[in-house]
Amino acid sequence: MKKSLVFAANWKMNQAPADATAFMRTFVGQYTRQQDRRVLFFPSAVSLHVVVGAIKERGDLEAGVQNIHWEDKGAFTGETSGTLARSAGARHALIGHSERRHVFGETDEETGKKVVAAIRAGLTPTICVGETLAQREAAETLAVVRRQLRAAVSGVEAASVASAIVAYEPVWAIGTGKNATPADASAVHVALRAELREIAGERGGAVPILYGGSVNRSNVDALLAAAEVGGVLVGGASLDAEQWLAIVRT
Ligand code: PGA
Repeated sequence: MKKSLVFAANWKMNQAPADATAFMRTFVGQYTRQQDRRVLFFPSAVSLHVVVGAIKERGDLEAGVQNIHWEDKGAFTGETSGTLARSAGARHALIGHSERRHVFGETDEETGKKVVAAIRAGLTPTICVGETLAQREAAETLAVVRRQLRAAVSGVEAASVASAIVAYEPVWAIGTGKNATPADASAVHVALRAELREIAGERGGAVPILYGGSVNRSNVDALLAAAEVGGVLVGGASLDAEQWLAIVRT
């Protein structure tokens, strides 16, 4: 059976509303629906409305936010909650992206609270895990990603885990031009799959596990062919509509 794939664009702190408008005009005009894949966009919160408007008529294209707070509302200046994002048209949320963890000091515990909040708000969490270079060199990769995954789902039912998405993003591969080899990525994906089955039983077998970290049009095919790689989470190469089209059409 052909794999069902998820292609997720993480625009990070890029693409103002005008840029997002131009990007989506090109993308939506040129991309025709393919049964075996879903395409997710994670714009900056200020451009979410542009993406949501551009994909209204398209069930194969979905939008999300890059981060949420764990509370639904209140005096949290500068934060966006899952319920606010959902009411603005988001259906997904990245949770625990490595930049949240390493630049902003987000802990495993906070990541867990954000997964609970995402599910409460009706958002599908894309739970991001990944080791640093030092952890890889110390042969701690599998222990780190298992710990991060367990902590992220510690507050939710197995059924919610079964409807989540997981992304493996080695920190040393993000934005560096150094991607994990398909074999290295696959070894981690296989371990995450086993963990998901332990957590959610049979249903854990269907959770998409995406690879992220310097994915581009040249390496995407080989990564997607690797065992248990069910899609890609792409930063830099998702910022240009033509490049992103080439990746999602792979
Ligand atoms: P990159 O980012 O593709 O630019 O390495 C991936 C990510 O951080 O999601």
